[in-house]
Amino acid sequence: MTVEPSSVSSSGTAESRPHHWWKSAVVYQIYPRSFADSNGDGTGDIPGIISKLDYLAQLGVDVVWLSPIYTSPMDDNGYDISNYQDVDPLFGSLDDLDELIAGLHERGIKLVMDLVVNHTSDEHPWFVESRNPKSPKRNWYWWRPPRKGATPGTPGAEPTNMEAAFSGPAWDYDEQSGEYYLHIFSRKQPDLNWENPKVRRAIYDMMRWWVDRGVDGFRMDVINLISKPDPLTDGRPEPGRQYVRAVKFVGQGPRLQEFLAEMNREVGLDAQNLLTVGEMPGVTIEMAREITDPANAELNMVFTFEHVDLDRMPEGSKWDLRPIELPALKKNLNEWQIGLADAGWNSLYFDNHDQPRAVSRFGDDGPEHRVNSAKTLGTVLHMHKGTPYIYQGEELGMTNSYFSNIEQYADIESVNYHADALSLGMEADAVLHSLSVKSRDNARTPMHWDDGSHAGFTEGIPWLPVNPNYVTINARAAIADANSVFHHFRRLIELRHDYRVVAEGRFELLLAGSEQIWAFTRTLDNQVLVVMANCSSAPVDVPADALPDLGRAQLLLATHRDAGSLRLLPWESRVYLLG
Ligand code: GLC
Repeated sequence: MTVEPSSVSSSGTAESRPHHWWKSAVVYQIYPRSFADSNGDGTGDIPGIISKLDYLAQLGVDVVWLSPIYTSPMDDNGYDISNYQDVDPLFGSLDDLDELIAGLHERGIKLVMDLVVNHTSDEHPWFVESRNPKSPKRNWYWWRPPRKGATPGTPGAEPTNMEAAFSGPAWDYDEQSGEYYLHIFSRKQPDLNWENPKVRRAIYDMMRWWVDRGVDGFRMDVINLISKPDPLTDGRPEPGRQYVRAVKFVGQGPRLQEFLAEMNREVGLDAQNLLTVGEMPGVTIEMAREITDPANAELNMVFTFEHVDLDRMPEGSKWDLRPIELPALKKNLNEWQIGLADAGWNSLYFDNHDQPRAVSRFGDDGPEHRVNSAKTLGTVLHMHKGTPYIYQGEELGMTNSYFSNIEQYADIESVNYHADALSLGMEADAVLHSLSVKSRDNARTPMHWDDGSHAGFTEGIPWLPVNPNYVTINARAAIADANSVFHHFRRLIELRHDYRVVAEGRFELLLAGSEQIWAFTRTLDNQVLVVMANCSSAPVDVPADALPDLGRAQLLLATHRDAGSLRLLPWESRVYLLG
């Protein structure tokens, strides 16, 4: 199948989106709250994003994925939506959004909206109405009576023993109607009932409204949770725990693929060549292949969690840490490459607004190796087959914030976990340590634009503390330095646009067992791309017999200047082209 280069258009119509254009595209995620603040209130906004469009064009990305900007009480920073068809005043207005769409399209960049439809805010008019047991909206959410024989509202009286992703039971008691409602995330994020065709119709109408406004696709929040197992039953808790994490057994419900295919048909997702990516905690390769097989007309690609779960204990939560081993990371990405090689398509990511910073997690963020490890992680990820996602600041090698005090955190998941863990008697230091390594706030500190006050992010007081290392790690310095992480990412994006082998080549992993080297080839017709990377802070020799003969190879990209021998310095990486 031929991949067309992405086209330049300001219209945002189906014609401006060639068939499978997203296969040679690179996506840039903006978390609006932390990107750029235009009005000095300390929170990023849409006019702030508009002021940075030339920066995105200079980097060369094809698509922006915008995290939620909709009206919201902000219990989960906008992933709790009370009006799907308006912009929260914190971020601006619909006019601002139209201006953003036009400004992006003028620069040949497409816009993908975050679609949060597993749940709404409890302040959404649908849920407000649904609280009344007699309302026609009652069945738009999951209302259930208390457990038989239990006293309503007391611990254990919940309809099932599911635990919410943000701690505490996944059911909340509503005294007014004597029933519980389901919320897999916070109690202000009630789950919509997708079994009800009226719910589905309302969502498809809303999606069409956005497509008509000019958006080019959707990133679908926890979309594999929309079909729940029927009936909802108890799970088996870990020893010493009363509840079982809901995400563990609510994913991949029986009607998931039916709903996705219906959505695709009804909204015209494939018909209009829109980009669709579904966030799917717990999805297996087999399921992902079915969902992304174009013949099934469901989604273009999914976000797996397997590789970002490698640093947690297998039976524990994300807070139960264990070190990441390179062979395990390579093996996992390789399995997804093989699993989706013939049908389906991969998304490629290390970073997003829910994950700690890649350079701190998989690289070495100390002063000696930060730049090269950020570049090398970018190289290995972007040279895989699939659509790469860059999260704001990843292109600068931004690091974790490593907060040491619970007062510094704003994220509901982190704050709730801290309270929950302390109430279970865990050591305060251990809890703070887990947070400093894994908290979502590591990714959410404000973007570093320059070395001025608050990193040039705001003229007010930033909503979350700025990482003090902005003085050296910032966009202005990176643009001025030809050897920066920024320019390395710019080159990676160019390679995907310029070489079909990067977008389409068959993937083959080399030296699978090496604890330092990440090496692979990509092959298309008579072209072979050879990628070798030292993913460690010690030098390493690449065994010559492990690679194709590089005698006549062209060096396309490298972290270091003298790339003559097979010795790789710490975090050195190279991309060669043969043929
Ligand atoms: C997704 C989002 C995350 C949010 C959650 C609930 O995982 O990426 O930020 O908290 O869904 O909407």
